[in-house]
Amino acid sequence: MTDTPKDPFHHLHNEGYLAAYNAPRFEANTLVVMGDRPSTSLAGDWRFTLDLFDEGLRQKWFTLEQAPPGEWTHPRDYDPYAGPTLRVPSNWSMQKPEWLHFEGGGWYTRIIEHVPDPQQPVTVLRIGAANYQSRVFLNGQFLGTHLGGSTPFCVDFSPLIQAGPNRLQIQVDNRRELERVPMRHFDWFNHGGIYREVDLLRLPAVHIRSTQVDWSPAQGLRVRIHLSEPVDTQAHCHIEALGIHLVVPIQGGEGEVSVACTPRLWCPEDPHLYSVQFECGHDRLQDRIGLRHIAVEGTQILLNGKALFLRGICVHEDDLHLGKVSTEADVRRRFEDARAMGCNFLRLSHYPHHEHVARIADEVGMLLWEEIPVYWAIDFGNPSTLADARNQLHELILRDHNRASVIFWGVGNENEDSDARLAFMRTLAQSAKAWDPSRLISAACLINREHFRIEDRLTQYLDVIGINEYFGWYEPGFDGLQRLLDNSSPDRPVLITETGADAKAGQHGRDDELFTEECQARILSEQVRISAAKAFICGIAPWLLYDFRSERRHTLFNGGFNRKGVIAEDKRTRKLGFQALADSYRRCRP
Ligand code: GCU
Repeated sequence: MTDTPKDPFHHLHNEGYLAAYNAPRFEANTLVVMGDRPSTSLAGDWRFTLDLFDEGLRQKWFTLEQAPPGEWTHPRDYDPYAGPTLRVPSNWSMQKPEWLHFEGGGWYTRIIEHVPDPQQPVTVLRIGAANYQSRVFLNGQFLGTHLGGSTPFCVDFSPLIQAGPNRLQIQVDNRRELERVPMRHFDWFNHGGIYREVDLLRLPAVHIRSTQVDWSPAQGLRVRIHLSEPVDTQAHCHIEALGIHLVVPIQGGEGEVSVACTPRLWCPEDPHLYSVQFECGHDRLQDRIGLRHIAVEGTQILLNGKALFLRGICVHEDDLHLGKVSTEADVRRRFEDARAMGCNFLRLSHYPHHEHVARIADEVGMLLWEEIPVYWAIDFGNPSTLADARNQLHELILRDHNRASVIFWGVGNENEDSDARLAFMRTLAQSAKAWDPSRLISAACLINREHFRIEDRLTQYLDVIGINEYFGWYEPGFDGLQRLLDNSSPDRPVLITETGADAKAGQHGRDDELFTEECQARILSEQVRISAAKAFICGIAPWLLYDFRSERRHTLFNGGFNRKGVIAEDKRTRKLGFQALADSYRRCRP
């Protein structure tokens, strides 16, 4: 294969170059769940370069063969076999000060050694997440692309991988674009790169792609299994501790069985997990799953038949030093800090967080809201934006379906009402319900300003109405909050999905002085006092646990951070708001 095409300058004149790299797509239908699968981690140093002008795609850097410069037949603008490296997983924004605000393409190159195994002829690359669009190349071939910065995807290497060394290259671009999800305007930091685990899975020709396990008083235990091939066969599901050994007939690669059983139900006070084994042919998969039932009755949420009040807090996946890279230790601290405030619930905002978050929440007994970044002014009329959002939602649901801690799928945040928005989000809400009827569907909606009440055409498609309101901060005083709640008579539960105030840690003064800790504390106390007194309010999740980076915030108090955290960005310094919330939660409904 020669280095460059016949006309060495062709790439200078082809502004349509991107079209060749936007399909095929890696989507939810090829996602393989991890469970406890053995895998080869590709963590480590990869050859890396930033590529602001997309020269790699224009000039096809993925076709460059390995050769010492002395043997190059033509000059090159990049050598993927030499030069700087970047750790995977990481965010390039966190590596060098001059890379902090870089938005564009980044090229990763790594040689992987392959030893064929007839027992496991399928080789799949699994990427936990890379922001935003990833393009994957193997041995000089473009395999396809993935859209979405927070969900996993899989690439089947089997047709192309060869024994011995293989050249894997991934181009990731984190540009903010109108048609993307999120679109180009959002209130968090746009970290780029491959920031979650990358693994190689070796699998039998027919293997389990995903499983869904849920329990309800009416149906008992329901097990669904999806295979990689549309074959007719049978699978097995074992829950030793319950004496359950199920044969799951598989037709066209899909199977489902239900069986009555009375398990020890998972709840925050008793987060009991069952070890569940799945088998199909040569494939084996194990998972630890809690069985519980979540439902709505009137304006109440019922967990295992008992009324539930959500004492919550929102949190971003953001770290002063690691950016979006999430560690188990950081996640456990998050839950400890929330627990210390008396929380039983976290809203993971505004995009899917690392998959270990829900696993740890299962273990420690914390309830979760997970959402996709349909945030503010999404390009609602654009069918490819809808396809992207719907796919991100499906990937999230497939990834975390078996996590008992997850009780909500959130399909959007603060999206202004319009016919296009309604159609877009109705599709998402109905898709989520179809993929997973066992969970509550919600969205963080806005107040109907005209009637000044909780009213939104979208809510008819939601199980629970989320409301973001900032009375006391963006809107002075609390009369408005009281009036809003008194004016409203929703037919389903309402969750305050955001409220709060900015305070710079250490900034003290009167409790009506903006950005002081005293002001934040007063606002949080008043918010809980007023909201929790309303019967249709099923919970509150103030904005938020930790201060986080945001390029929208530049007062001297903010300095590039959103400071609505009750703990500063060092994740140590508690503000007065922390204790105020803890005291409020101790006083409010059990
Ligand atoms: C909005 C938005 C958040 C944002 C917050 C704020 O409600 O959903 O993402 O950070 O307000 O203004 O601090």
